Amino acid sequence: MKKPVPIEYAELGTALQEVFLTREELLARVGELGRQISIDYAGKAPILVGALKGVMCFMADLVRSITIPLEVDFMAISSYSSEERDKGVVRVIKDLDLPITDRHVIFVEDVIDTGLTLNYLLRSLRARAPASLEVCALLNKSTRRLMDIPLRYKGFDLPDFFVVGYGLDYAERYRNLPFIGILKPGVLFSRGQPGN
Ligand code: IMP
Ligand code: MG
Repeated sequence: MKKPVPIEYAELGTALQEVFLTREELLARVGELGRQISIDYAGKAPILVGALKGVMCFMADLVRSITIPLEVDFMAISSYSSEERDKGVVRVIKDLDLPITDRHVIFVEDVIDTGLTLNYLLRSLRARAPASLEVCALLNKSTRRLMDIPLRYKGFDLPDFFVVGYGLDYAERYRNLPFIGILKPGVLFSRGQPGN
């Protein structure tokens, strides 16, 4: 059943067709992921690594649902041009602050779409010889996948449509929505250059 956009989002939500995942649905699933990570990584003090900015809300809720000691670090990457994207090239604007050699690393990602971004970043992290490297993604769009991504923790499978909110943007807007929404058809001009 279609979930309507709450009335208080009259200004921000005009381009939204409907709510895809409510705040409650997101928090419930993120809580489950956090409990599982707390069990799997007991005694390992993992480092959770995220790529800004799309992961901001997911990371904030995920770390607060994990009950074991952990550290958090972020990379910043730039949106790519369509040519760079086809080559799977990602520009790293800010690298990690923490060394990850011999550490248990969990890469936390908002959406995996083609997998090109994550594939590039995972290669770069693997080269630093972490003790282990796993991926935790909130949303998995497998229909457009080009690279094989090892996905240890997954929030939700997502059909091939563009979603915003809970950190995810369209042209830098909508990151502050507490839910994930679907844009109305026709709002999206180009699939080539989503923000990060
Ligand atoms: P990939 O390299 O094709 O896997 O692209 C993944 C990145 O594109 C994500 O980390 C997001 O920043 C962005 N992205 C992909 N799909 C969406 C979406 O539906 N909404 C917002 N951003 C998206
Ligand atoms: Mg991202």
